[in-house]
Amino acid sequence: MRARPVTTAVAVIILGIAIAAFAVIWRPAIDPIERPAPESFDKGLVARGAELAAIGNCSVCHTAPSGKPFAGGLALPTPFGTIYSTNITPDPDTGIGRWSEAAFIRAMREGLDREGRHLYPAFPYDHFTRVTDEDNRALYAFLMTREPATTETPQNDLPFPLNIRAMVAGWKLLYLRPGPFEPDATKDAAWNRGAYLVEGLGHCGACHTPRNVLGAEKGGDAYAGGEAEGWHAYALNANSPAPVPWDVEALHAYLRQGWHPLHGVARGPMAPVTANLASVPDADLEAIATYVASLMGEPAPERRQRGEKAVAAAHVEAPGLKPASADSQAVPRLDKASADQGAMIYAAACASCHEGGRAPPFGGLNLHLSSAVNASTPDNVINVVLQGVPARGGERGAIMPAFNGAMTDGQLSALLGYLRATFSDQPAWADVASHVSEARSGARAVSSYATHTGGSAPASGAQRGSTW
Ligand code: HEC
Ligand code: HEC
Ligand code: HEC
Repeated sequence: MRARPVTTAVAVIILGIAIAAFAVIWRPAIDPIERPAPESFDKGLVARGAELAAIGNCSVCHTAPSGKPFAGGLALPTPFGTIYSTNITPDPDTGIGRWSEAAFIRAMREGLDREGRHLYPAFPYDHFTRVTDEDNRALYAFLMTREPATTETPQNDLPFPLNIRAMVAGWKLLYLRPGPFEPDATKDAAWNRGAYLVEGLGHCGACHTPRNVLGAEKGGDAYAGGEAEGWHAYALNANSPAPVPWDVEALHAYLRQGWHPLHGVARGPMAPVTANLASVPDADLEAIATYVASLMGEPAPERRQRGEKAVAAAHVEAPGLKPASADSQAVPRLDKASADQGAMIYAAACASCHEGGRAPPFGGLNLHLSSAVNASTPDNVINVVLQGVPARGGERGAIMPAFNGAMTDGQLSALLGYLRATFSDQPAWADVASHVSEARSGARAVSSYATHTGGSAPASGAQRGSTW
């Protein structure tokens, strides 16, 4: 009999936990509606939605290789399994045609579908939650006036228990802080606008912030550099590897054109980001550049000096930086045989474009200016050398041949060692050989930039990098 109150207490506790869990997991459905007539949406609102959708990269993730725009079905490989993007055209049966505006806003803010099921954070609602209702209304108007496409979303390929959507409720408890962006009254309007776009719709941190084992961004390491589809998304904070420090103007130009004379071309998963930003109003781009520059901070004097040295070594003009005396005689920190082999390959295969004095984007960047060569990992240099920089349809742009078939792993490693020692003042990369063999074996699902078509067309074939 004495055990009785204990048993009751345990039962009450278990019931309490069950109710709490149910409250967290269970979310109501929102009633379906008849698809609203496209004419019922204000044209201005639709146009605003189009700009916002470009900032949010919706078409890149929601368009499959040869599929209809926004009809979903793109496979997103994650460390946990493959998740397919859904059909967000207004098709009533396979898309979001029966979703009310309230259901759409709830999906963006809380990561729930119309029926109340939890969505995987491969859909970056941890960022989209910051979007205001007003902007969500414009996005909704834009999507509901697209061409409906009848396209079923393939089944996700996730192992048990991750295939149970209720599991995502636990992830949200830990990592989702729902609610629109709150401006910082101590900062000016452009900074706040930029913060709103970068933290929210732009979801820049989804690639540029490292993630933890549960696939959530590490809050304390915001913009410290992350991974996306086998590419390194450089640090955008004080640890930016760019030899010449970025400023608002350079960021603005790079984000607008996908290229900057002192920083090179946006490749890999950054290419569709800049292609989309090309159509965004200038004030918004200026705001994004302002905020990103503030994340990087004013460069310290040593940092500026490093930039001045790089500019001098590269023999280029850089407004605002006076070339310091170049120490281009830097002794390669390599063993001699490997240095010789790397130097020979560079002289034979690379120097004519990279030191030819032709202006980029037609000539290659002088590698003293390269973030890739100065980054914490050799991954982006490896990707560029193996895949080249393919021509983008309909654009005059940078072209570099692919060397995938032309070099052995050993030659590529020697070349990488030479480039690092010659064109950067950073310590040698550790374990270059394993980065090379991983890239070659496809162990790092490297998206092929060749399939990005540039312009504002969605990236086909590119598997957007998301850790979930
Ligand atoms: C990084 C890739 C990515 C980007 C960018 C992205 N989405 Fe998605 N989205 C997904 C994935 C993956 C899903 C499916 C998640 C799931 O099945 O749990 C999804 C689901 C959705 C859903 C739920 C649809 C349904 O039928 O359940 C909506 C609505 C949506 N996205 C809208 C958008 C909008 C609007 C944008 C642009 C502002 C956008 N998405 C950008 C990957 C993305
Ligand atoms: C899908 C992943 C992804 C998203 C989203 C993304 N980036 Fe990037 N970003 C990358 C990768 C990968 C690179 C390296 C590209 C290269 O080597 O050319 C990069 C490069 C950059 C660079 C060049 C840095 C340097 O030192 O050369 C800047 C600046 C940048 N991104 C800003 C942004 C901003 C601002 C946003 C949001 C509007 C953003 N990125 C969103 C993946 C991403
Ligand atoms: C036909 C001309 C050409 C040849 C040959 C060539 N490149 Fe390039 N390379 C380019 C162009 C153009 C770009 C794009 C502009 C840019 O980002 O520098 C580029 C980009 C790069 C980048 C990225 C720089 C950055 O951070 O933005 C690296 C690294 C690079 N090339 C290395 C090499 C190496 C190593 C070789 C020899 C194996 C080589 N290139 C051969 C034209 C060439």
